[in-house]
Amino acid sequence: KQVEKISTKWQTPSNIALVKYWGKSNPQIPKNASISFTLNNCHTNTSIDFQKVSRNEKADFELFFEGKKKDDFKPKIATFFERIQQYCPYILDYKMTISSENSFPHSSGIASSASGMSAIAMCLMSLENALNPDLSEEFINKKASFLARLGSGSASRSIEGPLVVWGNHLEIEGSSDLFGVKFPHKAAPIFNDYQDVILLVDKGEKQVSSTVGHNLMHNNPYAESRFKQANDNLAKLSKILQNGEIKEFISLVESEALTLHAMMLMSNPYFILMKPNTLEIINKIWEYRAETNSNICFTLDAGANVHVLFPSEEKESVLQFIDNQLSKYCQNGQFIVDSVGFGAKKL
Ligand code: PMV
Repeated sequence: KQVEKISTKWQTPSNIALVKYWGKSNPQIPKNASISFTLNNCHTNTSIDFQKVSRNEKADFELFFEGKKKDDFKPKIATFFERIQQYCPYILDYKMTISSENSFPHSSGIASSASGMSAIAMCLMSLENALNPDLSEEFINKKASFLARLGSGSASRSIEGPLVVWGNHLEIEGSSDLFGVKFPHKAAPIFNDYQDVILLVDKGEKQVSSTVGHNLMHNNPYAESRFKQANDNLAKLSKILQNGEIKEFISLVESEALTLHAMMLMSNPYFILMKPNTLEIINKIWEYRAETNSNICFTLDAGANVHVLFPSEEKESVLQFIDNQLSKYCQNGQFIVDSVGFGAKKL
């Protein structure tokens, strides 16, 4: 089908890994399988206006972020478009105007690459679907995840929800290194509407980007055992998610977070992304768990912020605990209340 002009708009969420992806080979192939909760409130809204170019016009793109022209993000997106050209040759026929905004505060230290890249991928799939109206929803989601992965590995886990596995794993049917798939089993009721409060400990630029971090796994002497451990943990977590063994969930998820940061401590050159307040918060969470029968736990991304995870029935008490005891460790007292979500939405 011929398409002269089309406007598309998608909202896609961020996600938080329970078993972490840290280490990859080219082109964005993970060294181990990972699994994440898809988030709901932390998301990116992106629209792309596609306009077909005339024969001697160059296909190019313009980028607006939160209403302003944003040329410093262009190189990353340009590299992404080059990478995916072979899978989406039609993008060479279009001029694109991309406008994007995040629901979370700018430079809050929340990785926006997962939601940002997945949103662009969904917009591209809308164009592909306009050119070829026979595509199934399954194909669209798979290919969107495949494309998003080439922008940022973890973005492959932001198309669907509430639980997504990325990376080939023997015990997860349909799993692949090339795209994320929905966790194929029914999770126990305790994991329905699971809550994630993101404590914004440090909003500054990370000193070490995740690209550099992944690459440092190449000569990390602990890398191979880490990749094996992650795959073993995913097999364990698959069972835990089905049987609802919450205490085992807590210890596996916290161990994954600390192991991710341990890998950073043991890289050469070594680096630390946690801040003193990250550790204050972790200790407070452990104290709270020892003193109450709460099932809260924490996890970490490649940064200083702490994700506090807990079942929805504890929402009131945990929010009170956060207000009273944890918010003082956050920059300007800021935190974001989120919960699991279901992935990309067409706007
Ligand atoms: O998607 P990337 O390349 O930014 O890597 C993100 C890796 C972690 O967030 C630290 C872990 C994960 O699995 O999301």
